[in-house]
Amino acid sequence: MRSDQVIGVLGCGWLGLPLAQMLVSEGYVVKGSTTNEKKLEELEGKGVVPFLVRCDPDVQGRNTADFFCADVLVLTLPFKRSFNDPSQYQKQIDSVIAWVMKAGRIKFVIFTSSTSVYPSHMEDAREDAVFLPDSPRAKVLWQIEQDLLNHPGFASTIVRLAGLFGPDREIGQFLAQKKDLQNPNHPVNLIHQDDASRVLFSVIECNICGEIINACGDEHPTRKELYTKAALVKGLPPPEFSDVNEGKGKIVNNAKLKRLLPGWSFSRRLLDA
Ligand SMILES: NC(=O)c1ccc[n+]([C@@H]2O[C@H](COP(=O)([O-])OP(=O)(O)OC[C@H]3O[C@@H](n4cnc5c(N)ncnc54)[C@H](OP(=O)(O)O)[C@@H]3O)[C@@H](O)[C@H]2O)c1
Repeated sequence: MRSDQVIGVLGCGWLGLPLAQMLVSEGYVVKGSTTNEKKLEELEGKGVVPFLVRCDPDVQGRNTADFFCADVLVLTLPFKRSFNDPSQYQKQIDSVIAWVMKAGRIKFVIFTSSTSVYPSHMEDAREDAVFLPDSPRAKVLWQIEQDLLNHPGFASTIVRLAGLFGPDREIGQFLAQKKDLQNPNHPVNLIHQDDASRVLFSVIECNICGEIINACGDEHPTRKELYTKAALVKGLPPPEFSDVNEGKGKIVNNAKLKRLLPGWSFSRRLLDA
C-alpha cells in the first residue's frame, strides 16, 4: 500500500531530510528536493529519489514535472529572515502551487508554517483563534496558509511549527553570551526535530487533511530560566537579560495535536538535546 504512495518533500533540509528518511524507512516512495547539486548523492544514499529544485522565486530545476508527480507534497521551503521583501516567499509558494496544478496528481499539500504567525502577546495561541497577524512576515505566512487551505485543487494541512531545536541547533547555543536581552519572563515555545518530523509523518500516515495544527512541546519555562540552564549545560557563558518584559508573551497551545494524532506523546524534552 505505502509503496504505491509517492511523497514529495520540497526541501530536504534540516527538518525535511529526517522526515524523508522516516518515510523511506516506513516503505513510502519519497521524492526529495535540494538546491545543492552536491547533496543529490546524499539523498540518493538515504533512499530518497533526488531532485534539484530551486524557487527563485519561480520554480526551476531538472525534471521538475517528474518531481511534482506525487500523491502528497510536503512543503518545507524556509521563510528566510534574509528576505528583504517578505512577499518573495508568497511568490515562491505561488509558483509551487502552479506546478502542483500543472502536474495534476498531488491531492494533499502539507505546509510547514510557524507559530510566529500568532501575535507576540497571545497568551493562549490556539488554532481556532481569530487574530490579526502583527508583522509583515506573519501576514505573508497567514495569507499563504489561507491560500492553501482554500485551494480548490487539493486538500491541505498547515503545521504551525514552534522554534526548532536538535542536532546542530542546540538550545544552549541560541542565546549564549548575548547581553541585554529583553523579555526574560516570556515563556518559550519549542519543538525538537524528532517530534516535528513525527508530527509531519503522522499527518501523512493518518491522512489528516484540512487542519491547522500547532506543533509545540509541552514545556514552557521562561526564556531566562531555559537559556541560562541550557548554556551552562553546554559549558557556555549564559546570556544576560534586562528586567524589561513587554507583556506576558505567548504560549502555543498543543491540545489539538494531542487530540488529532493517535497515541501522541513527545519523545524529547527541552534539556535532552
Ligand atoms: N527554524 C525554526 O525554528 C522554524 C520555526 C518554525 C517554522 N519553521 C519552518 O520549518 C521548515 C523547515 O525548516 P528548516 O530549518 O528545515 O529549513 P532549511 O533546512 O533552512 O531548508 C529547508 C530546505 O529548503 C530548501 N530551500 C531553501 N531555499 C530554497 C529555495 N529558494 N528553493 C528551493 N528550495 C529551497 C533547502 O535546500 P538545500 O537542501 O539546498 O539547503 C532545504 O532543503 C521551513 O518551512 C521553516 O520556515 C522553522
